[in-house]
Amino acid sequence: MRTDEPLVLGIETSCDETGVGIVRGTTLLADAVASSVGEHERYGGVVPEVASRAHLEAMVPTMHRALKDAGVTMADIDAIAVTSGPGLAGALLVGVAAAKGYAMALDKPVYGVNHLAAHVCVDQLEHGRLPEPCMALLVSGGHSSLLMVPDVTSDVRPLGSTIDDAAGEAFDKVARVLGLGFPGGPAIDRQARDGQPDAIAFPRGLTGPRDAAYDFSFSGLKTAVARWVEGRRREGRPIPVADVAASFQEAVADVLTRKAIRACRENGVEHLLLGGGVAANSRLRAMAAERCRDAGITLRVPRPGLCTDNGAMVAALGAEMVWRDRAPSTLDIPADSSMPVTVTQA
Ligand code: KG4
Ligand code: ZN
Repeated sequence: MRTDEPLVLGIETSCDETGVGIVRGTTLLADAVASSVGEHERYGGVVPEVASRAHLEAMVPTMHRALKDAGVTMADIDAIAVTSGPGLAGALLVGVAAAKGYAMALDKPVYGVNHLAAHVCVDQLEHGRLPEPCMALLVSGGHSSLLMVPDVTSDVRPLGSTIDDAAGEAFDKVARVLGLGFPGGPAIDRQARDGQPDAIAFPRGLTGPRDAAYDFSFSGLKTAVARWVEGRRREGRPIPVADVAASFQEAVADVLTRKAIRACRENGVEHLLLGGGVAANSRLRAMAAERCRDAGITLRVPRPGLCTDNGAMVAALGAEMVWRDRAPSTLDIPADSSMPVTVTQA
């Protein structure tokens, strides 16, 4: 490990994960995550007030755990990075306030960064520096976007995004229809292993010749699954849960990979990166690998643990900003719930 690379601590609290990560340059030293997912389960989705309170309780213990895991002290840290947005306002506020407090008390520079750019940058911890440009398919509970990324610290260009539900939201809603609990993604992924992906022909949203090439729509698919399941119930027939899960998952993976590869081809980009919680999906990963191979595109996917929200991704982006001599943010970093993806730093 080079010790001349910046030692950066990253704080993430945009949704239901309290994450504190520590990196040196592109080397991961600690990735401490405390999740409040269990507390939201009975509501079938993340409750903002519950998430904020959980961040407050988890912040200091998670911080201590990360420092211990990395074998460093606060005094060793060169800079602090924090998710400024987008995300849940009250949840973001806890991380932003903590970062400001630590930065002020310890006299360290602080970088307020974009959560989506951090989802892209995290791959540097696993596969080294990002090629420039690269195409990023970001799919999570809150977002589904195709991004052209010439420079993850300062130049992220949205090519398309979902016009209704995010891909992760569709997984969560379909899981609810099938009675699989929350969060739905991992449960559907597991069920689908025993199902036939071509058992039911679910629709592929926005794939017609006149549709926007890089935008997504998952709301129609979600409704189609719900109708299909209702129909079976009305007829008193059993629901083939594994087949429904596999067919739904196939439809999502098909549309996402088709559009991502088209975006690479049409924009002359040779590297595709998957990020966000849905990038943990096994079928999406396999299909992307297969289709990228056929198209001569190099695929980069972080391991599943780095795809879902964590502090290491925030630290990775902060370290890249330090490495590129970007000026730190001022201490008035906002908790910006609707921070645009084009704004990489607050
Ligand atoms: O990136 P993330 O941790 O949080 C947000 O920023 O939203 O993504 C969470 C989303 C949830 O909707 C969850 O169901 C989905 O990612 N997810 C998955 C899988 N693991 C998590 N979706 C499909 N397959 C998975 N294996
Ligand atoms: Zn996320």
